[in-house]
Amino acid sequence: MDLQLEGKRALVTGSSSGIGEAIAMALAKEGASVVVHGRREDEAVRVAKAITDSGASAAVALGDLATDEEAGHVAKTAMAAFGGIDIVVNNAGAYFRDEWTDPNPARWLDLYNQNVVSVVRVIRHLLPQMKQRGWGRLIQIGSGLASAPAATFAAYGCTKSAIVNLTVSLAKGLARTGVTANTISPGPVLTPNIEAWIKDIAGKKGWHGEWAEVERRFVAEFFANLESIIGPQSVLDLAERRCVAEFFENPTGRIGRVEEVVDLVTFIASPRANYINGANIRVDGGYVPTTN
Ligand SMILES: NC(=O)c1ccc[n+]([C@@H]2O[C@H](COP(=O)([O-])OP(=O)(O)OC[C@H]3O[C@@H](n4cnc5c(N)ncnc54)[C@H](OP(=O)(O)O)[C@@H]3O)[C@@H](O)[C@H]2O)c1
Repeated sequence: MDLQLEGKRALVTGSSSGIGEAIAMALAKEGASVVVHGRREDEAVRVAKAITDSGASAAVALGDLATDEEAGHVAKTAMAAFGGIDIVVNNAGAYFRDEWTDPNPARWLDLYNQNVVSVVRVIRHLLPQMKQRGWGRLIQIGSGLASAPAATFAAYGCTKSAIVNLTVSLAKGLARTGVTANTISPGPVLTPNIEAWIKDIAGKKGWHGEWAEVERRFVAEFFANLESIIGPQSVLDLAERRCVAEFFENPTGRIGRVEEVVDLVTFIASPRANYINGANIRVDGGYVPTTN
């Protein structure tokens, strides 16, 4: 399928690692010019170099989206790189695992600023030029935890619920402009951070060997015998047991891969998705048990 992304210009926030990195690489592979963003210069430059080495165009915009000033700088740098931005993937995000035994209002506020207000900052700067051209894409990366709240990750889940809400409002606000707004909500995806966490669990369980074997045992014990991880013999603490039970169980029986999120993002970013607007689309192996 030709996604007609040749010549489009994209900014992928938080593309210095993880899912964002894979989205940036995939959009570039489809012919888009991509602005790679993060706070860590070495990592953002590494990703941009991988894109240019593949023969596509890339630029780097650095800055903390949690402040107006740096977000403004990121937006200006991105627009200057290729003379405008047609596609924004608001992927940058942070999380922490919290417990209701010790809720921390300052951390909640900080996370809301990082995960939600950051998106508003980026949109504020990049939307006017999209509207002027009569075409644009605003794609927010949400999470299954937005629709299936868990006892752990409460602050994070609330920020992702806000993202879904914001996106629907945005789609309505952008009626008949040619600019669409959608959320893509992944379940657990095997990024370096998630891999490190699983390796930590593997260490506690005394599993050794290659990553493929660790993942095989992790998945087998999760999905075939969840009790061994969350039950009374578990070597995990209560918060980790909750997290495993609430976040990882899904009918497909495995952890997702970044490519599986990325394929959907590239499609939604393309002109082929002109009629998909205001949606929240799950890529989670069926983890969120809703009718939509
Ligand atoms: N991995 C999963 O299983 C999963 C599941 C559901 C949803 N998600 C969502 O997918 C997105 C990407 O997650 P990931 O797992 O790929 O995360 P990751 O590997 O930790 O990457 C996060 C990215 O966001 C950037 N970032 C974070 N806060 C920022 C800020 N204040 N200003 C600028 N950049 C910031 C980081 O840049 P620097 O490090 O360079 O600063 C990094 O590039 C997030 O929105 C996350 O909530 C992930």
